[in-house]
Amino acid sequence: MNLKNLISLIVVTLLLFSCSGSDDDPTTPNSSNPDPNPNNSTNITYNSHIKSIMSGNCTSCHGNPTTNSAPMSLTTYSEVKNSVETRGLIGRINNANNPMPQGGLMSQTNRDLIQQWKDQGFLEN
Ligand code: HEC
Repeated sequence: MNLKNLISLIVVTLLLFSCSGSDDDPTTPNSSNPDPNPNNSTNITYNSHIKSIMSGNCTSCHGNPTTNSAPMSLTTYSEVKNSVETRGLIGRINNANNPMPQGGLMSQTNRDLIQQWKDQGFLEN
């Protein structure tokens, strides 16, 4: 097991145990109670945030044309949005056992940004 997987496992374990605590103040984010919406004052948009995450981590395979047997490209707004909606993109970027990118999970920040982009309704600009 590599270090990233180990860290993910620890984080998941902490999250599971934190659910049983009743004395946690839900309004105060901390390591066992992460803020589900860390940048809630910021609009996350494809052009400002998501596009650069994709080009830095995904388009080496999910380019146009795709390479290394990647099944779809992730080079446009609608391709990325469609992949979140129909190809389980958020599941894969958070799946330590079968991650995208294949080399290991991206930073929590990147993963949170993509989740928040979805939660805010896939803003383009
Ligand atoms: C080194 C090449 C490579 C990189 C980098 C890469 N992928 Fe992939 N991706 C693949 C391959 C190959 C598959 C098909 C096999 C599989 O599902 O594991 C795939 C499959 C997927 C799937 C599932 C598609 C489906 O319909 O089943 C998603 C979603 C995905 N990638 C998202 C991403 C995202 C998002 C990134 C960047 C954060 C990324 N990938 C980075 C090669 C890559």
